[in-house]
Amino acid sequence: MSAKPRYDAVAITLHWVIALGIIFELALGWSMATLSFPLATKFTLYQLHKSVGVTVLLAVVLRLLWRATHKPPAYDPDFTGLERKAAAGAHHLLYLAMLLIPLAGWAVVSLSPYNIPTVLYGLIPWPALPFLASLPNKAALEPWAEDVHAYLAYGTLGVIALHILAALRHHFLKHDNILRRMAPWIR
Ligand code: HEM
Ligand code: HEM
Repeated sequence: MSAKPRYDAVAITLHWVIALGIIFELALGWSMATLSFPLATKFTLYQLHKSVGVTVLLAVVLRLLWRATHKPPAYDPDFTGLERKAAAGAHHLLYLAMLLIPLAGWAVVSLSPYNIPTVLYGLIPWPALPFLASLPNKAALEPWAEDVHAYLAYGTLGVIALHILAALRHHFLKHDNILRRMAPWIR
């Protein structure tokens, strides 16, 4: 095994772009849904939320394809079975959340009876999910999709917190290479 195994540059770039995107989206989603803004600002914030959210979704699809075709670096032999299982479990949950949260958001806008168009960054028209947008009772389903989107997003905060604490534990308490595998610029 090489002395310093790490994820490849594509995996690292996608990890951090998606992580920043999701944290930004959680803060923006909470703000736009909870705080009061003038209508025009609210519209701009929703369009930004949809733009960044769709970008995250596309990056996640790319990341899953990359992950399926590129093995992550092997763990050190002293990494226990429990640690391997906990990491694998958390990573599976995070992948599921990264995919389902933006898909649920896309479902919300597709079910909206107002049919407000999504134009990514004010430039690229993004379609509604056709099988949802054409449902006759879509207005009744929209609040349900909103709940799924919100519960998934806020529920994932717990997994993200555990994931970050685990990374910090490895770095500062166990003094091993785990954080540097994903953040090679850290000393
Ligand atoms: C990385 C992905 C995303 C995250 C973490 C995220 C997170 C959130 C959060 C935390 C809220 C506030 C929920 C509430 O308090 O009611 C929200 C609302 C919303 N999101 Fe997302 N979102 C993401 C992607 C998307 C995408 C891709 C779309 C649409 C294309 C979208 C559309 C919406 C809409 C329309 C609302 C407002 C729903 C309402 O009024 O309750 N989101 N999002
Ligand atoms: C929303 C935020 C985040 C998400 C969704 C996320 C998701 C993931 C996923 C799915 C993996 C597994 C990679 C694979 O093997 O396929 C991973 C690995 C990793 N993440 Fe994150 N991450 C986030 C934020 C962070 C932050 C803030 C840190 C640092 C404090 C971090 C540190 C790491 C490390 C060190 C690994 C490699 C773990 C290992 O080698 O087993 N992540 N992350």
